[in-house]
Amino acid sequence: MINAKKAVGERAAAYVEEGMTVGLGTGSTAYWMIEKLGEMVQAGLNIKGLPTSKATEEQANRLGIPLVTFSDVKQLDITIDGADEIDPQFQLIKGGGGALLREKIVAKASRRMIVVADESKLVDVLGTFKLPVEVVPYGWEKTAFDIQLMEGTPHLRKDGDNTYMTDNGNYILDVDFYPIREPRKLSEALNQLPGVVENGLFIDLAETILVGTSDGRVLIK
Ligand code: 5RP
Repeated sequence: MINAKKAVGERAAAYVEEGMTVGLGTGSTAYWMIEKLGEMVQAGLNIKGLPTSKATEEQANRLGIPLVTFSDVKQLDITIDGADEIDPQFQLIKGGGGALLREKIVAKASRRMIVVADESKLVDVLGTFKLPVEVVPYGWEKTAFDIQLMEGTPHLRKDGDNTYMTDNGNYILDVDFYPIREPRKLSEALNQLPGVVENGLFIDLAETILVGTSDGRVLIK
């Protein structure tokens, strides 16, 4: 699978052109795209990156990719990011790596979003992968209770013996909602709950999907 992730990540870097501002995704597939962009920058490509997590920021700094923040730019040319599940309408579940809030802010600020994934991420119906929901720590038990009333089964994400904490200082509830037949409705309903910061359903954001196959090919959808 690493080969598929590497092939697709590196292929996606070809979508980045001189002068672009690029949303830099998070995860083990986006990693290879960022490594390739680093090579391109070292060879003279002039771009600016906006990272979606502290891990990605560290990687970009190591590679010498110039970075900006939302105090510098309000719109990006392109975002390239991974996904945990992709349905036939290109609706996504993201947040397996815990970066869903920054990823969604960056994707929404971008003219186009390219998704990089290996073929195991393609599904007919979303929800086998538990939906990550970022919640504020205060009253998370009540937020989890409200999510149960929506027929989800929430699990507080752990990091070893500790509660997992996002880059924004929040918790993640991984929620079993399978099958998610109406992802837009579910996303809107979740974001109505006061303790929910954001959820991992990315609706109508992905424009192009690059799929890496186990034999090293890259399919463009
Ligand atoms: C991080 C994400 C990742 O894009 C998603 O988890 C896919 O990761 P990987 O490429 O490692 O399979 O949403 O929050």
